[in-house]
Amino acid sequence: MSQEREELLKLLSNEELDLFILTGGIDMDVADQMRENVIGITKIPIGVAENFVINGNPAIIPIATEEKSVIMQASIGAGLVLEGFTASTSGNIMIGQIQVLDVPDLDAAEEAVLAEKEALLFDANTISRTRKAVDLQVKRLDTEVGKMLIVEIFADVRDSMGANLIDSMCELLAPTIAGITGGRPLLRILSNLATRRIVTVTVRVPVETMGSIVIDDIIAADAFAWADPYRASTSNKGVMNGVIGVLLATSNDTRAVEAGAHSYASITGTYRPLTKWSKDENGDLVGVLETPMGIGTVGGVIQSHKLAKVVLRLMNVETASDLAMIAGSVGLACNLGALYIMVTEGIKSIQA
Ligand code: MEV
Repeated sequence: MSQEREELLKLLSNEELDLFILTGGIDMDVADQMRENVIGITKIPIGVAENFVINGNPAIIPIATEEKSVIMQASIGAGLVLEGFTASTSGNIMIGQIQVLDVPDLDAAEEAVLAEKEALLFDANTISRTRKAVDLQVKRLDTEVGKMLIVEIFADVRDSMGANLIDSMCELLAPTIAGITGGRPLLRILSNLATRRIVTVTVRVPVETMGSIVIDDIIAADAFAWADPYRASTSNKGVMNGVIGVLLATSNDTRAVEAGAHSYASITGTYRPLTKWSKDENGDLVGVLETPMGIGTVGGVIQSHKLAKVVLRLMNVETASDLAMIAGSVGLACNLGALYIMVTEGIKSIQA
């Protein structure tokens, strides 16, 4: 048994251990309240990854995955980095979109919406005492069914995922926006491309640890991914092995994060990797991951999911930003671990 696994088990009460081993955190009554037409509960193994130090703090990382070797890829990657993972987030702003059709005069409508910006934000902010709309912008799209106006609301959703809040704000403002623009609001919904909620993680692997040949090979493998979407897709899948593993264990909306990550990967018009590997002036390998992370540590399913709460406690997570930095670090570790194995022994060596 690994040291991390032993340590983790010691941190759990008997009741919490039962959550891991027996119930998976929810029973049929809770499941019934959560979703429609419930007929059962699925279970996925949770393992603990080793060697993680994030922003100077050793971290216990539970990862939920059905795939063999993901936890090993994460642990190998984390074991290679020298000072651990340096992670930061850009904030907790999520974006909502109100689509407005049949606008008689787009110039006048745009101007009028912007002139009413403060009043619109004031109205949006009647929904929550603590989570506030902070900005509103307007853009125009020329689509296959004609021109349309898109009003975007930016709100600080703090430690929630934010979908409910943003959707409510969009629905609340839509009739007023109809009045201002003379148009017909259609969709009023969150965007999962959370470009104002980005996590950035960097690592360094000393040339003494890995050797310059392996470093050059990892850079060549990375160059392949930057030049070819077929490889970039698989590289990003490896990143998401780690990101989603952490988010699944904390009952987050993993589809939202997958959608955000892949749309961010193609934001330039070409699908790219979420990670980049290069060499610094010492010949050390330097890696960076940048991806949107629209996740929460309060609200939604997390509220009723006992196991998710225990997992958050084990990881010392207090805020959504803490969780984003952990998930991002695990994603970068999985990418590094996979690249290291693939350029040396080959992936089958750890899947046997
Ligand atoms: C497998 O789940 C993930 C890898 O394919 C990632 C990669 O190729 O970078 C090993």
